[in-house]
Parts: sequence; C-alpha cells; structure tokens
Amino acid sequence: MEMKQLQLMFLLLIGLTSLGSAYRILFMGPFPAPSHWLWLEHFQRDLLRQGHQVTSVNNHPTKQPHENLTEVIISPSFDIPKHFPKKNIFSMNFVSDFNNLEMWWTIGLLTTEHALRDRGVKKLIESQDDHYDLVILEQFFHEAFLMFGKKFNCPVVTIGTMGYADNIDHAMGVLTPWSVIPHLLLSHTDRMTFSQRAYNAYLSLYDAVMRRWVYLPKMQKMAEKYFGGAINGPLPHVHDLERNISLVLINAHRSVDLPRPSMPGQIDVGGAHIQPAKKLPADLQSFLDKATNGVVYFSLGSYMKSTDLPPEKTSLILKAFGQLKQQVIWKFENDSISDLPSNVMIRKWMPQNDILAHPNVKLFITHGGIFGTQEGIYWGVPMLCIPLYGDQHRNSIKSVREGYARSLVFSKLTTDGLVRNIEALISDPQYKRSALEVSQRFRDNPIHPLKEATFWIEYIIRHRGARHLKSQGAFLPLHQYLLLDILGCLLLGAFLTIWLPWTMVRRAHKWWLRGGTADKLNDSKKRL
Ligand SMILES: *[C@@H]1O[C@H](CO)[C@@H](O)[C@H](O)[C@H]1NC(C)=O
Ligand SMILES: *[C@@H]1O[C@H](CO)[C@@H](O)[C@H](O)[C@H]1NC(C)=O
Ligand SMILES: *[C@@H]1O[C@H](CO)[C@@H](O)[C@H](O)[C@H]1NC(C)=O
Repeated sequence: MEMKQLQLMFLLLIGLTSLGSAYRILFMGPFPAPSHWLWLEHFQRDLLRQGHQVTSVNNHPTKQPHENLTEVIISPSFDIPKHFPKKNIFSMNFVSDFNNLEMWWTIGLLTTEHALRDRGVKKLIESQDDHYDLVILEQFFHEAFLMFGKKFNCPVVTIGTMGYADNIDHAMGVLTPWSVIPHLLLSHTDRMTFSQRAYNAYLSLYDAVMRRWVYLPKMQKMAEKYFGGAINGPLPHVHDLERNISLVLINAHRSVDLPRPSMPGQIDVGGAHIQPAKKLPADLQSFLDKATNGVVYFSLGSYMKSTDLPPEKTSLILKAFGQLKQQVIWKFENDSISDLPSNVMIRKWMPQNDILAHPNVKLFITHGGIFGTQEGIYWGVPMLCIPLYGDQHRNSIKSVREGYARSLVFSKLTTDGLVRNIEALISDPQYKRSALEVSQRFRDNPIHPLKEATFWIEYIIRHRGARHLKSQGAFLPLHQYLLLDILGCLLLGAFLTIWLPWTMVRRAHKWWLRGGTADKLNDSKKRL
C-alpha cells in the first residue's frame, strides 16, 4: 500500500516537473517565400525536440510530422509570382531604395491580409479556450499578427530573417545611430563618407516616418478588421504591440555584420540553420569523390528556379560549364535539359549544406541569398555571386568586400565572363584564404546559435516576458529620448537668467543716459 502511494507520488512528481517545462507555443511564419520558412522551421524543430507543444501557422506542410506539432497551413498560399512576376526579376537591374522599401510594405500588407483571411487562422482568432505560453512570429512585415500576443495574453518573440532594422532597435529601446549604422537596404560599411551619411540619414528618416505614419496605420486597420470582437476590451495599436515584443532573434553574426548598439533582448542567431554535414546520397557522394579537379556547385536558391531562366541564359551558362575542367553540380528543377555537357550533373533538389561541406567543392555559384551565403561562409567555399533581387545585391557586395567572392550582373552575363571569373576564383589562392578566415570567425561561437535561440525563447516564458531585457527607451517619447525637453529648458533658463536681465539693464542704462523721466516727459509734451 505504502509502496504504491510512493510510486504514485513519484509519478506525479515526474508529471509535474515535465509539465512545468513543456510549454504551448504558437509559432507563426505567414510569409510564403520558401527560404524564410526553411530557416524558421529549424527553430520550430528544436522547440519540438525540447518537448514543447507547437501550433504552427505557415505555408509549407512539414515533411517531418511530430506528435506535438499541430499545423495550420495557409491554403491556398499567397501567389507571389502572380503579383511580382519572375520575368521582371530576371530583367530587373536596379530598383531605387525607396521603391524597394515600398515594395516590402506592399508585399507585407498583401501577405498579411491573405493569411488573416485563411480559415484556420480565423479559427485561431476566434478560439475561446485555447491557451498559449508564447507567440513566436517572423519579424518581417506582418505586424497585425502581433495581436495574437494580446489575444492569448502571453509574451511575443520575433525572429528577424533579414537581419537588423531600425524599427527593431526602436522596439527594444535603442535609437539607431545613422552616422555609423547604414540602413538595412544599404551595403555601406560603418565608415561612411559625408554624402553616404547624408543619404543614409535621408533614407532612414523616410523609412521611419513613412513606416510610422503610413504603413503601420494600414496594419492597424487590418488588425482591427480581423481581430475586432475577438479580443476582450479595446484593441491596442500595433505600434504599442511592437514595443511589447520581449525578444528578437536576429539573423546576423558578429563575424560578418557591423558592430552596433544593442539591447539584451536582441540576440544574434545567424548560422542557426547550419548543421554538421550528413551523409550524401550515393550518386552525389561518388560524383564528388571522383572529381579530382574539383567541383563547382551552382544554385539559384529555393524561390527562383533555374527553369525560369531565359533560354539564352541557360545555353550560355551550359556553354561556360562545358569549357571547365572541373565537374559541375547544378540545382536544375527539371528532369532533363538539352545539350548537357558531360561534366555537368543536374538534380531537382540538392542537399546544399552537405554538398558545400565536401572538400572537393571549389566554388559556389549563388544568387547571394542570405542563407546560402552563410552556408558558403561556414564551409569556407569561395563564391561567385549573381544577385537578382532584394537583399542579394547587398549580400554580394559584402562578400566581394570580404575578399572571398566575385560578383556578376545577371543581365550582362556572357560565356567568357563566367569562365574567366570561375577560373580566377579557383586558381587565385587569395579567395580560398579569405573564405577560410571568415569561416573560422563565423564558426567561433560559445554555443550553437540554434541552441542559444531555444535557450532565450524558454527564458522569455520562464520569466513571463522578461521585461528586464528591454530599455525604457522603447516607451519614452522621442523628445525625451533625445533630451530635447531638457535642452529646451536650458535655453529657456538661459533666456530668463541672462538675456532678459541683460536687455533690461541695457535699456535702463540708455534711458538713464538720456536724462531720465523728466526729459522723456518734456519730449512727449513737445511732440504733442
Ligand atoms: C510530446 O509532449 C509530451 C508532453 O508535453 C512529452 O511528454 C513528449 O515527450 C513529447 N513527445 C515527443 C516526441 O517529444
Ligand atoms: C504589454 O505587456 C504588458 C505586460 O505583459 C501588458 O500589461 C500590456 O497590456 C501590454 N501592452 C499592450 C499594448 O499589449
Ligand atoms: C523540362 O523537361 C521537359 C521534358 O522532360 C522538356 O520538354 C522541357 O523543355 C524542359 N524544360 C526546360 C526549361 O529545360
């Protein structure tokens, strides 16, 4: 009898302790681009590994079902190419930074509304007795989703796929110094010339003002439209919800990004998606092992397909590859391709991380997407960048500046140019040296960035939002943050104590010199 009671107590104790550390997490990645979710899913998987219950709102049904994972798949998913045709991307050369910003806001508003209209998401909004310990949201352009934090009355963590942005700093309580921190869209270093600083300040100011007074009000309207009635009490403003974000996990790394002022609630997790190399499929393994002259690996990423390339570009690329003495592996999303040279292998899907890890890979030809770039850096592979859109230009410029890459303009691609650049990158040892140097810096972490992310996510739940990671600066009005009120007071004080008495004394003195009241009176009498 006593034995049984003891056993029961023991079981109860185990149950309680495991209950205490298994949390219910609402994980949301409403943006439909596959590369974003490929990255975000690493964080979700790690949370599941820790035994947490995850409800996931996203566009891509998982390939690894888990008993503690509930998916709410936005379907049909937002059709990006319909709104932003891929044809235009291949012919796009330069878009102004201002147009780029507006494009992000437009995409953000469109995809947010699309996701909020989804049946499964609506059900979440209207749910009565669901409970969550934490909401995790991609830090992108979906601020209306922050309302879920209010809905479930729990802290919010965001994951910044694109790296740092001024508004993340503001939300955590730092005002970004525009003198040394270039705007998210710019590729400057922290040593800007006068005109670069002027342009940076102008663009950053434009971003701040338009975001606060044009973009966020539109988000707010959307939030009110879809959450109105589903939340007790008045709806907060998305701007206030943003300032309530507890933690931002940011895709940046000290070894490749500029140093910048930061708050304890901003954690760099760049490289979180990179894992030790896994075993390659047998055919790829033998292809790579046998390539004694080395291998060139070519991929345009997960969004732009090689099959979307204009045919004349495909044939000039194939011609260039045919001239190389290296073997080539091309992520090409079709079973066949005409005129395939004998040294080129195509596959619809590639285990990119495991391929780049192979010592025979000499070069990575990439569109310069952030995740591929980080994988190339991690494995110390020189890169040939052919940027197409978004942050790819900026990433490529940075890679070239660091000395482990060259870059080419897509619209000006030629067979000769390709061959020349590939050969230069492989034959000049300088590129490999720089790649290895950056790689060592990038790998030198006290703890794997994914583990660090999970630690801080759990920390936020344990400390119910951990308000202490954020400065009060997030809530101060701008004039107080910049001490303009104190400056105003000082000026007023100076006016009252120096200028005012001084002018009074001077007047009195002049008056006295002119002979005082009597003369004055006579004067005025005369004039009358
Ligand atoms: C699922 O969650 C329960 C309780 O939260 C936990 O005991 C169990 O180990 C989890 N399952 C897996 C496969 O992690
Ligand atoms: C911000 O968080 C605090 C503490 O969690 C909460 O009391 C407050 O209502 C939140 N504000 C908004 C606008 O959601
Ligand atoms: C894809 O493959 C099919 C046949 O398998 C072929 O007809 C088509 O032209 C190919 N597309 C491209 C872009 O090569």
